[in-house]
This record gives sequence, C-alpha cells and structure tokens, in this order.
Amino acid sequence: MSNLVVVGTQWGDEGKGRVVDFLSKKVDAVVRFQGGSNAGHTVVVGSEKFVFHLVPSGALRARKKCIVGNGVVVDPQDLLEEIKSLQSRGIKVDNLYLSGSAHIVMPYHRKIEEIEEKRRDKQKIGTTRRGIGPAYADKIARKGLRVADLLDKKVLAQKLSMALKFWKDVYGLDYSFDKMFEEYLKYGRELKKYVTDTSLLVNQLMQENKNIIFEGAQGTLLDVDHGTYPYVTSSNTISGSVCAGIGIGPTKIDKVLGVAKAYTTRVGEGPFPTEIRGKIGEILRERGKEYGATTGRARRCGWFDGVILRYAVRVNGLDELVLTKLDVLDKLERIKICVGYKYKEKIIEDFPFQLNAWEECEPVYKEMEGWMKDTSKVNRYEELPEQARKYINMIERVGGVFVRLLSVAPEREELLTIG
Ligand code: IMP
Repeated sequence: MSNLVVVGTQWGDEGKGRVVDFLSKKVDAVVRFQGGSNAGHTVVVGSEKFVFHLVPSGALRARKKCIVGNGVVVDPQDLLEEIKSLQSRGIKVDNLYLSGSAHIVMPYHRKIEEIEEKRRDKQKIGTTRRGIGPAYADKIARKGLRVADLLDKKVLAQKLSMALKFWKDVYGLDYSFDKMFEEYLKYGRELKKYVTDTSLLVNQLMQENKNIIFEGAQGTLLDVDHGTYPYVTSSNTISGSVCAGIGIGPTKIDKVLGVAKAYTTRVGEGPFPTEIRGKIGEILRERGKEYGATTGRARRCGWFDGVILRYAVRVNGLDELVLTKLDVLDKLERIKICVGYKYKEKIIEDFPFQLNAWEECEPVYKEMEGWMKDTSKVNRYEELPEQARKYINMIERVGGVFVRLLSVAPEREELLTIG
C-alpha cells in the first residue's frame, strides 16, 4: 500500500506526465487534485504523443481509476473534448471519476481573464488563457458553479442567472442566459456518469490498501502562496494541497516525489534568476523541444537552479527526486548549476520570498565540464559518462535530496533507477 504524491519542483513542465505514466503501471488510481486545463502533461508511447489537460495521466493504462478531485477547476467542454479525443485513439476512459464539488470554468472566466491581462499591460501574468484564475477567484468569492450544479436544472438556472447578472454589471459582459443554460445542462448530462464523491472514493481505496498516485500540475514556483507571486497560477501546487484538493488527511500520505528537469524552464512572465538569454538558451529550447503543451509558446530556458530545488524540498517535504531530460545537456561543453544567489552584496542560499529580491538576485554558479556524449541510449545509471554522474551528484548535494529516477529520452518508456 502506498499513497504517493508527485509534484513539480520548478515552474511546471518538468515531465510529470511521463513520470506518472511510468509509475502508474503499479498503481490502482491516479488522482488530480488542483489546476485545470492550463496543465499539459505529455506522454509519448512509441510513435504516439498524448497530451493530457484534465484527465489524469494514468488514463493510458487500462483498469486504472482516473480521479479528478474537488480542487481541480473543470472546463466541461475541454474535458469532454479530451475524453472524445482519447476515445477516438482507442483509449476507453471508462474509469474516470469526477468530483461533484469541483468548480466549473465558464466562458466568462476566459473573457474576464482576457480583459484583466490587457489591463495589467506590462505587468501581465502571461497566463494560459484557460480562465483558471477567474474560476478560482469565483470559488473563493463563493459565487462559483460546481460540477454537481450542472446536474440540477433549478440550481443551475439560479446560479447561472446570478453570475451572468454579476458580470454584466461589473464588466458589461452580455451572454445569452438561454443558450448558456442549455449548453451547460447538456454538459451535465454528458458528464453525469462520471460524477461521484471522490473524497469518499479515494478514502475507500486507501482502506482497501490500494496504491494511489496524486498527480500535481504546474510546479512549486507557480504555487499561489509559495511561488513567485503574482507570476503564479491560482492554485496551491505544492504537495500539501492534496489534502484539501481531494478530502484526505495529511497522515495518509506516504511519500512525496519531486520532479525536476535537468535544467530550468519557465513559460509566461515573471522572475527567473538562471535564465539564459542567447545561444545556449536556444540550444536547450531546440534540443528539449521547449514549447508549451497547452499554448505552444516558446519556453524560457536556463541553468539548473539548486536554490529552487532546496526550496522545493522544504515546502513539499520531498523524499526523493526524479530528474528528467538529462540528454538535452549532452552537447554542452560547459554546464552551470546555481548554488546560491547574490543579493545586496550577500550570498543567500534560501529562496527569498519577495518579488523585488527575485528580480535583483544574481545567481552564483558552480561550473563544470559537460560530458559531450550521447546519454539517450544508456540503460543503467552506471553506464552514464562520469561527468553526467558528477552533475547528478552536484544536484543532490545542492538540493539536499537523492535522485532516484532519471529520464534520458522522450521515446523511452522506462526511467533509469538509481541506487
Ligand atoms: P494560468 O495558470 O493559466 O493562470 O497561468 C498562470 C501562470 O502559470 C503563467 O505563467 C502560465 O504560463 C503558468 N502555467 C500554468 N499552467 C502551466 C503548466 O502546466 N506548465 C507551465 N506553466 C504553467
């Protein structure tokens, strides 16, 4: 029996989807607990590429329960399209369970986000434009619609008319009630068979000693409380968020696994101390195919940041780390790892908590020789070039966490086990 939480340790896009798919071979259920269709979890199987936005990455494996908890914000249109697209590729998706308490992303959320991003002008967040922020804002402001509301005509009519009136008053948004009401009732009818009490389900699975993976979306530095606020997403992305996002107690979590890319990327605006502007950044982007799975935007690329990893170990209580995309660094003659920041003439080792500091921090690097060898075909950790092993050791030392699994090529299903 084990209840494992998998979270991103950087700004998302660490390769969590692939890690979860690999680990899900041995589990009974994969559970999403936060985020929405802003997430883009890519899994490559043979020559086929699957991108998951709302459906948990375990869907590719038959008989795994795929559970979407109350902490997720669900765009029903996106979810139904994703289900249909998977079905059209021969994936059954008959083990999907959706919390009735999950909040709904409505069309006006996307519109509000567009208006607010425009208003922010140079301070824009650079969101995925999926309406995630406004949907969570409505949830916290206690005027959101929930999945269960789509199943009850009377409740839907009352909540929807209130919401449309509200947004007309605030932003002059003019939606047809009748059209939206019919559309969302239809979504409710289509989703009904998946709707359940997911807290009860997950707790029952735990009582039956089943193995469960809780699949985080985005990454630690995008956490609304612990990330680079305001350049963050609107949910808690750290491991502790599992409890509220599903309805389980913290005592039930057995292990927390972090996922880190062997370098760093970020999509959207906001501070990024180890960003590389120039040729090496482009090499990383091209070799690592660093373009957003949800929006197609080019990701900003930079050196591995050990300060961030140390922070992620702390706020997530990481037990172990999975390092992904090591092979992307194969052609670099010199490689840098950030081991501290220089801030106001002092060297700091802990991630600062205020925006000004992130913008003023200068990374302090340890530089090492690259390995200049192809690692993509390596089958065992011991076969890695010595310099590559040294690089991994350095990450472990700086971060204060052991690397247990390693990915070296996107088409390889297996991850290498270390230790
Ligand atoms: P939102 O989540 O769409 O509101 O976007 C807020 C910030 O989080 C933006 O910088 C996005 O680029 C970033 N973001 C949201 N989801 C992901 C993801 O899955 N991977 C990487 N960045 C993300």
